[in-house]
Amino acid sequence: MNRLRLTLAAVLAASPASALLSQSQTAQPSPRTWLQCRACHTAKVGEANKVGPNLSKLFGARAGTLRANYSYSPALKASGIVWNDKTLDAWLANPAATVRGTRMAYPGLANPAERKALIAWLRKETR
Ligand code: HEC
Repeated sequence: MNRLRLTLAAVLAASPASALLSQSQTAQPSPRTWLQCRACHTAKVGEANKVGPNLSKLFGARAGTLRANYSYSPALKASGIVWNDKTLDAWLANPAATVRGTRMAYPGLANPAERKALIAWLRKETR
């Protein structure tokens, strides 16, 4: 019985945190999702490439052509994608399925609202 009580207490203690987490998944434009990207990318003009290319001037650019000093995968260069809200949405939902053979090791952002907010933020940030 004591053991059961302890287990229940642990579950109850954990639930406020998970409630917060699901709230943040439907949040408005927020740098929270960018924190995942930031490990590998910079966004502003003049910032250095990291594991992934600097993303400034992203919108309207052809995939894999943005940074002359970055070594893109042949797959991304051959994709023919031009970056806009729609192509970024598909890419960020599932990079590996959108461009087979890409080197972007990111599993994807499942929540459509989060993708939309991140893309809107990127549009401003990468201008
Ligand atoms: C683990 C590192 C990593 C993470 C995390 C990551 N990326 Fe990337 N990203 C890359 C790499 C590497 C490439 C180059 C892929 C290639 O050449 O196939 C890339 C390419 C891109 C491109 C195409 C750029 C171009 O010049 O065509 C975009 C857009 C992009 N990433 C956006 C994002 C966003 C937004 C996030 C966060 C949701 C993110 N990435 C998370 C590593 C990462």
